[in-house]
Amino acid sequence: MLPEFSPHVSDLAPGRGALRPARSWLHSDAKSLSLNGSWRFRLSPTASASEDFAAEGFEDHGWDSIPVPAHWVLEGDGAYGHPIYTNIQFPFPIDPPYVPDENPTGDYRRTFDVPADWSDAERVVLRFDGVESLFRVWVNGVEIGGASGSRLAHEFDVTAAVRPGENVVAVRVHQWSAASYVEDQDQWWLPGIFRDVTLVARPAGGIEDVWLRTGFDDGRGRVEAEIAADATAFPVTLRIPELGVEQVWATPTDVTPVDIAAVEPWSAERPRLYDATVSTAAETVTLRVGFRTVEIRGDQFLVNGRRVVFHGVNRHETHPERGRVFDEAHAREDLALMKRFNVNAIRTSHYPPHPRLLDLADELGFWVILECDLETHGFDKVGWTGNPSDDPAWREAYLDRIERTVERDKNHPSIVIWSLGNEAGTGSNLAAMSAWVHARDAERPVHYEGDYTGEYTDVYSRMYASVLETEQIGTDGSRAPLLNCTPAQGARQRTRPFLLCEYAHAMGNGPGAFDQYEALVHEHPRLHGGFVWEWRDHGILATAPDGTPYYAYGGDFGEVIHDGNFVMDGMVLSDGSPTPSLYEFKAVVAPVDFAFDGDKLAITNLRHTADTSDLRFRWRVEHDGVPVDSGELEVPQVGAGDSGWVSLPSVAVSPDAETWLTIDAELARDTAWASEGHVVATAQLNRSVRRPVPGVRPRTGWRPGDGTLTLGIAEFVGGSLVRLGERAVAGPRLELFRAPTDNDKGAWGEVEESDASVSGVSNAELWLRDGLDRLTSRRVSVEQTEDALRTVDKVSAADSGLSVLVESVWSRESDGEVELRVEIQPSHGWKTVWPRIGVRFELPDGTAPVDGAEWFGLGPLESYPDSLRAARTGRFAAGIRDLSVEYARPQETGHRTAVRRLALTTGDTEVLRVEALPDTQGRRPGFTLSRHTPQEIARSGHPFELPDSTSSCLTVDAAQHGLGSRACGPDVWPAFALRPAARTIRLRITAPN
Ligand code: GAL
Repeated sequence: MLPEFSPHVSDLAPGRGALRPARSWLHSDAKSLSLNGSWRFRLSPTASASEDFAAEGFEDHGWDSIPVPAHWVLEGDGAYGHPIYTNIQFPFPIDPPYVPDENPTGDYRRTFDVPADWSDAERVVLRFDGVESLFRVWVNGVEIGGASGSRLAHEFDVTAAVRPGENVVAVRVHQWSAASYVEDQDQWWLPGIFRDVTLVARPAGGIEDVWLRTGFDDGRGRVEAEIAADATAFPVTLRIPELGVEQVWATPTDVTPVDIAAVEPWSAERPRLYDATVSTAAETVTLRVGFRTVEIRGDQFLVNGRRVVFHGVNRHETHPERGRVFDEAHAREDLALMKRFNVNAIRTSHYPPHPRLLDLADELGFWVILECDLETHGFDKVGWTGNPSDDPAWREAYLDRIERTVERDKNHPSIVIWSLGNEAGTGSNLAAMSAWVHARDAERPVHYEGDYTGEYTDVYSRMYASVLETEQIGTDGSRAPLLNCTPAQGARQRTRPFLLCEYAHAMGNGPGAFDQYEALVHEHPRLHGGFVWEWRDHGILATAPDGTPYYAYGGDFGEVIHDGNFVMDGMVLSDGSPTPSLYEFKAVVAPVDFAFDGDKLAITNLRHTADTSDLRFRWRVEHDGVPVDSGELEVPQVGAGDSGWVSLPSVAVSPDAETWLTIDAELARDTAWASEGHVVATAQLNRSVRRPVPGVRPRTGWRPGDGTLTLGIAEFVGGSLVRLGERAVAGPRLELFRAPTDNDKGAWGEVEESDASVSGVSNAELWLRDGLDRLTSRRVSVEQTEDALRTVDKVSAADSGLSVLVESVWSRESDGEVELRVEIQPSHGWKTVWPRIGVRFELPDGTAPVDGAEWFGLGPLESYPDSLRAARTGRFAAGIRDLSVEYARPQETGHRTAVRRLALTTGDTEVLRVEALPDTQGRRPGFTLSRHTPQEIARSGHPFELPDSTSSCLTVDAAQHGLGSRACGPDVWPAFALRPAARTIRLRITAPN
């Protein structure tokens, strides 16, 4: 008899009738039948619609069809409601364990045939791999049970209910349930049967479950098997053909470990897997085993005896059209992209992914922190009153969740740490989960960030700790207080390995400071790196009123409460394009480090296990970005953790051009994730001879004038530029504003270590307060000579006493060339940081609009003072659209640092050539070329809101403010914060056409 399943969505019991213990998701030759496909579907607005749909003979012809797996809110063009995005907020009243009567409820039905050859099955099991949030199931009108735990697998024994031939399965899914209180992750709420449904024939004498625990020690491997099978199923045979293993265990008590004399270890870098089978007479299960040993020794986390450094990302399951529905090709490409960008670790934030994802992680090679489906963050709003994590009534539900998590995925070598969940406060239920894991899997450590004081977890973990704090955690002997810890608790935490389960919030343009975090990892062995928040934007493909496709975020579906674009915080955009931050990450965490010393180059292999035999090293020399020589370096094999020295090639130094030597480490062979020649690390050495910067030629004979004159290619009316060569051009106009980035708009945290900001107030707000977006100017003077023009303007904003004086001096250098020198001098009293110090030129629509740029400077992508590591010095070209990144919410983008020469182009034709001279401190300006002004960009909430434009806007910045991570993390480090300052910009301009 089944226990009665409570129909109440407020029931805390995780499952009625769901089989326990949970078991591994195995590849077995037992027969199975996928029930994915088209189901009949009806959506009701409340949980109380009649249950008669579950009856066998119910007439469902009038119902719609829906695919399974799918989220109903992403099907039917809005006919079934819409996604809701909240971060912490509960989208329903905080009234645990109750949820509102308005509870969208999806009823599903389909028929299936039990194949005739299933008659020998001992049992028939119906498996659901993921249903959000609570479901009940009937087969042929018989209620089988129900369960919650959206991203966990549940199996039901339906043997007694099924019959040969046609059967009917009916499923009722409630969007909200008590479980929603513990599934409050920062993501879209997406109800439905969103993972596979499978009918499984369990043979008599089959293998219910198997766990092959492997170990690796000094070249030797070990397999300890745990086999759940009836005694009558024995003998059981383990085969690992490649290793010559064929082990027969006659009885359950016989199952002794197998030692193997020589195996290759598994690591994220060399994910060596061996095919294995475990068989009885009735069933064969296929696994891929990897040999590795996980341990904590002192304050270090080791795999196979070597310290692991996580260059990780937080990965949600998200797809712009399918939501959390798994798409294997998409996931594989995502993981391959990670590998190409030097990502070596994944935290499965904040729930177990589709089980296949872990097969891919084993195969491609990632260190995985596998996280349980648990978050109660919304209780923060009520001071954590009633938090399920510390309420015994929820204990069983918590234990059920962790058991299903660990049991399902325990065989994967890639999983090296179990995580109890995310942001669920703290309490005894979490401690109980941890105890359960420790008892079940003595090897893998337990992680949970919210255990600040380390009461029940094995590693010390934090999110968004600043660089300074991270350093204090890593430093031996430091007494600096740790978050929420007494000094004694802090001392305990410092005895453990530390990781940042989240850092570097990659929302919009940013983050900065990857390199500062990375530097700490090399200084302090206790620090084991971290996981960037996060891999991918969660945008949902939608259509704007004018028909333009776009990626929707919170609020775009008319949600009652939502958290806007906080769900767009990945290093990869919703359409799959890597953002510049991913390139920066790749450069910072590159597995090979180069250090130049005279004519020598030190190559350090920073990897865990792999030597450099998979790499080759190429060099090239460029003069002002033009390749003049190249070759390959002979590099002896460098072991993991070692360095090798090689001589540099002789470099032909140019007397009148910059000479740069570039070294690339690239793949010598194709891999599963990149082709031969893929570059994994790059370094540059500047071999240029110093060349004097031409001084400003003093001019005499200045007299007041009307400013209407021509200086070679430059034409002025009333002191203002109107034309350069054939082109109408206006400017320079002082530009201090940038369209605030998400980090500029952040007001996160205290600002102890950074004087760049004001506590609790975003920089963007301060900029608007000071009127940086709405500067006006008053011409103070216009003077001219035969071949020069000088204007002074006072630039300030309405209702502000602050100002900036801008002196612009134009001089004719030759028939074809003018020089512009702009002196920017702030008044006394500016208090905030500035986003930029630049001048803007407008190039209105011409017959042939400017549509691209070629430049010699840093590139190819945008860069900012605290995100410069991916940029290299060279010659680059890009179309105007490609100079900007299409962030989900338009914002500052496109700044190219340290430009030497720039040409604006129309098709293949150069329209204007600009040479940027360094200032007396050797600083060079950067440039941005865009179709829109910062003000226009700042006014747009989505790319489709930007006005149509064919004009272009060139901003030359003496300096830009850094990026920081303040959308959720520390602000710009003081060294990279832009303080108001006097700056000079010097440009030499020619107009070829
Ligand atoms: C963390 C949380 C993540 C995400 C992130 C901000 O606090 O664990 O799920 O919300 O902040 O994007």
